[in-house]
Amino acid sequence: MIPVPQFLRVWDLWVRIGHWSLVSAITAAWLTRDGYGRVHDYIGYSALIIVLLRIVWGFTGSPHARFSDFLRGPRVVFAYGRDLLANREANYTGHNPLGGWMIAALLFTIAATGFTGWLYTTDYFWGVEWMEDLHAFLGTLILPLAALHVGGVIFTSWRQKQNLVAAMVHGWKRQRD
Ligand code: HEM
Ligand code: HEM
Repeated sequence: MIPVPQFLRVWDLWVRIGHWSLVSAITAAWLTRDGYGRVHDYIGYSALIIVLLRIVWGFTGSPHARFSDFLRGPRVVFAYGRDLLANREANYTGHNPLGGWMIAALLFTIAATGFTGWLYTTDYFWGVEWMEDLHAFLGTLILPLAALHVGGVIFTSWRQKQNLVAAMVHGWKRQRD
């Protein structure tokens, strides 16, 4: 008998809207980083708001949106890394243990970028060079993290033989045989 592939609803609507809005906001914040004044600030605040909403959703959202579903302890993360190198990693329906911490790192770095951007506009820190440098550093750090994240997505798509980017659009993943 030919096996019929099973599809699972993994990403809820808010996770998907949140993801692509965040990608757009970070891209826009980057494009307006120099010389766009207030426009950059408002775009940065929108990224900050998306991250804050995502954190709330991490405690209250659908099963695979919850932090408890994908932030695992060091033992599980190292075991996953070891298994990955040995080509025998387990299959996760939601985010895998390495991808999960990458997501936490992205959310944290974006929040810290937005926060330092806001601090720089306050009377206390206005014109304080190290605060501007810290903000620019954090904003720039998002790029290599996002590159690693996309690299991980492409690699895992290849390993699982399914398009995880499309899954972040329509919300469904094929269950592994
Ligand atoms: C979270 C997303 C954000 C990203 C990725 C980001 C990124 C950056 C980067 C890379 C720079 C450095 C520009 C340079 O020196 O070449 C910069 C500058 C700046 N950012 Fe942001 N930023 C974000 C959010 C914010 C927020 C929320 C605010 C304030 C409300 C803000 C205010 C500023 C200010 C005042 C500058 C100084 C220089 C200027 O206006 O030309 N940023 N940002
Ligand atoms: C600034 C750029 C990016 C940021 C900040 C970012 C952030 C995130 C976050 C926070 C999540 C977790 C989703 C959730 O549970 O709410 C995620 C997952 C995901 N992202 Fe991104 N992302 C970025 C760029 C991209 C790009 C360009 C792609 C596609 C080419 C992509 C594809 C995905 C996929 C497929 C997942 C789900 C991974 C899985 O199946 O476990 N991301 N991303």
